[in-house]
Amino acid sequence: MTAPATGSDLIDVNILGPEALRDPYGYFAPIRAEHPVLWDARYKTWLLTSHEMVTAALRDQRFSSDRIVPFIRAKLSGPDTDPLIYQAFDLLRNWMVFQDEPGHRRMRTLVVKAFTLRAVTRMEEEVRSISHDLLREIDPASEFDLIEKFAYPLPAMVIARMLGVPERDQDRFRAWSDDIGALVSGGLDDPGRYHRSAAAIAEMIEFFRDLMRHYAAHPAENLISDLIAAREADDSLSEAEAIATCTLLLFGGHETTANLIANSMLGLIRHPDQLAALRAGTVPIKGAVEEFLRYDGPGKAVVRVLAEDAEYGGQRMRKGQRVFLVLASANHDPSVFDRPDVLRLDRDTKAHMAFGGGGHFCLGAALARLEAAVALPILVDALPGIRLAGRELRWQPVFLTRGLRELWVTADGPR
Ligand code: HEM
Repeated sequence: MTAPATGSDLIDVNILGPEALRDPYGYFAPIRAEHPVLWDARYKTWLLTSHEMVTAALRDQRFSSDRIVPFIRAKLSGPDTDPLIYQAFDLLRNWMVFQDEPGHRRMRTLVVKAFTLRAVTRMEEEVRSISHDLLREIDPASEFDLIEKFAYPLPAMVIARMLGVPERDQDRFRAWSDDIGALVSGGLDDPGRYHRSAAAIAEMIEFFRDLMRHYAAHPAENLISDLIAAREADDSLSEAEAIATCTLLLFGGHETTANLIANSMLGLIRHPDQLAALRAGTVPIKGAVEEFLRYDGPGKAVVRVLAEDAEYGGQRMRKGQRVFLVLASANHDPSVFDRPDVLRLDRDTKAHMAFGGGGHFCLGAALARLEAAVALPILVDALPGIRLAGRELRWQPVFLTRGLRELWVTADGPR
């Protein structure tokens, strides 16, 4: 596809360069101010960076979420297509997040009958007990990677228990979200990613098929049983759709929530006054979580593809072109948030976009909020004097998510 001719072609942006990875907020500030709609010639994508543009695009049906069906058609329809790779993308085709209306609405309506607020609230005690179990394995006075020991396992264990995955399978289950990640995320450092993850995904599909058939015969109080039972008029999820939804919930809720916990702890370590306020209980945790989401949330951007030509911010965008809606930049737009680069746990964050917006607004927002609101105070309480262990902070070299590879910390030990 040829790049459109615009004045902004002359601007050399590198959204995966070291500066943008380290501090996307500082990086995007001048871009947002000068060119809130910018063609990135390097990665052949539009970048929408202002709060106003991102809000509008999230609600504009011309911005399609379906990039899987076109990909399958273009790249996986030939006779020499690896059947495992085909199967993996066929799974993604059934993810609601990659669907447009009316198919998206149909699936979401069915899934929310299972993934209810009640089902989420039921998890509160589980989140608390898993958090304490994980902390018991940590010696606070040693140097430890908070991501490996706590932030990463917690959400996987929570969603596994919510779905009804048996304890003995939870390690495998956790590893699968990395395999899906390799398929979905555009990583720079991982060109052979499809081949490596397709075999693991085939195994995961089999695993969920068996589990689904088990719960179809023996329903229990869990999400898989509720997904099987979900009905809207005469409609229900097919087995393939229910399996796909389980994998979406695992993937959608794992790394994102892990990064929320880790990024929040990093934010607190870097802002001792805010850490002290949270520890003293002078700021409500619910509001604090919203500020963590705004300040350094786990998703830098969501992707759309133009289903029709559109004009935004005076720029003509063409059908078929890719668009990144840069949530991270919208969340630091000074026209909406006063002094956006300051972490202020008591600020008004109502307009933040960390969970996206419009029809695809994060289905798991309540669960992510619950996990963070339970886990962060437990961590803050158990790790007095928490500080960085002096190792370099390395951000994952991907554009869509904002997460550290590791977060090495140490603390003073139990009080
Ligand atoms: C802090 C953690 C999380 C963040 C920042 C986050 C962010 C997002 C965002 C930005 C979207 C919109 C994607 C788009 O418009 O293309 C989304 C959608 C979604 N998220 Fe989350 N998410 C988080 C946690 C979770 C959890 C815990 C779950 C479930 C276990 C989950 C499940 C989903 C699902 C199913 C969708 C698709 C909704 C749809 O297409 O209608 N997310 N999430």
